[in-house]
Amino acid sequence: MQFKKVMVTGGAGFVGAHLALLLKQAFPDISVWACDNLKRRGSELNLPRLVRGGVGFLHGDIRCPEDVASWPAFDLLVDCSAEPSVQAGLDGSPLPVIQNNLAGTVNCLEAARRHQAALLFISTSRVYPIGPVNALPFTEQSERFVWTAGTTCVGWSPRGLAEDFPLAGARSLYGATKLAAELLLQEYAFSYGLPVLINRCGLLTGPWQMGKVDQGVVALWVARHHFGSQLKYTGFGGQGKQVRDLLHVHDFFDLLLRQLEQLSAWDGRAYNVGGGPEISVSLRELTRLCQDATGQQIQIASDSSTSPVDVRIYLTDSSRVQRDFHWQPRRTPADIVADIASWIREHEAVVRPILCSPKPTNYRRPVVRDRENNDNPG
Ligand SMILES: NC(=O)c1ccc[n+]([C@@H]2O[C@H](COP(=O)([O-])OP(=O)(O)OC[C@H]3O[C@@H](n4cnc5c(N)ncnc54)[C@H](O)[C@@H]3O)[C@@H](O)[C@H]2O)c1
Repeated sequence: MQFKKVMVTGGAGFVGAHLALLLKQAFPDISVWACDNLKRRGSELNLPRLVRGGVGFLHGDIRCPEDVASWPAFDLLVDCSAEPSVQAGLDGSPLPVIQNNLAGTVNCLEAARRHQAALLFISTSRVYPIGPVNALPFTEQSERFVWTAGTTCVGWSPRGLAEDFPLAGARSLYGATKLAAELLLQEYAFSYGLPVLINRCGLLTGPWQMGKVDQGVVALWVARHHFGSQLKYTGFGGQGKQVRDLLHVHDFFDLLLRQLEQLSAWDGRAYNVGGGPEISVSLRELTRLCQDATGQQIQIASDSSTSPVDVRIYLTDSSRVQRDFHWQPRRTPADIVADIASWIREHEAVVRPILCSPKPTNYRRPVVRDRENNDNPG
């Protein structure tokens, strides 16, 4: 691989920590840094893993230009820092999500421009507008909603949404900040010749995901089964029939390895990335997989009210990324759930307070010690 100094923002988060550690493992001679403000509860659990894996940790905030300016030189930036919840801003000010996901990304872009570095951006399927996605024809089966063929629509087939699905319509503040960031990334690629690649990911999951109700639902579902605590089917009738495709974070890393070998594709283009219909579940189906993996059955409550930013079905048509990079996700929903369940079993004591209890009112961001001693990767 041609990159020797990699900066991963959000590098203590679920995706960022995985990518940073797996990159360092795959290419032991490169330097990898993880920058994170530790805003996400549970990200602090990744700090010892990063240190053990030879990844340097930089405590910093991408919203703060001084923090970003203090980064060591890098030739690849993997941008995984975000407020990743689609609910962000709904019950208060939109400014935090805008400042994190848009203004913060601009600071990252500027740093990439100064260092003439390549940039990989983790975007989202949430760039596609909610109204048109929910208007796609569907039928209700006993365990899940299913898209039906019948009408034709650009960028859509029952296999999923492709990159040319029309973008007109509201998409949530989260989706809007990601799409706005994508546009700026493409301008930087065009104006400054930065190598830029955008992956619009569906639902990414796996061990070390600090799942909460509004983000990281698969890890949350497994954990609540493991610990025997509460869950609720919310929205679209409250029966748990809404469907998502899943992608194990290791399958995502397999794609990244291939993308790193094909820099001719880094021209600002965006790819849809996800497991597709073969690697999809409804919440009801997820419940059964969790029961099998944990041996626990729990009561699941029901709330039929639907959030304005929820979608009934989302499946990714990843044909383009699969064809261009000769990539195929391998891990099934059962593999994914089993993997998360065994991680929880192994780390029960440390993950219980994160995955099983509401955020304590006195929660404070942990103090990071030895910052100076800990930012030189091996
Ligand atoms: N997990 C998914 O299903 C999924 C799907 C599509 C896209 N994504 C995108 O992937 C990226 C990573 O998501 P994730 O699931 O790992 O979320 P995460 O919350 O686990 O990781 C994000 C990390 O960024 C850090 N962070 C937040 N704001 C920051 C700031 N201003 N400065 C520095 N660090 C900051 C958080 O502390 C956290 O550790 C995000 O951009 C997200 O939008 C995730």
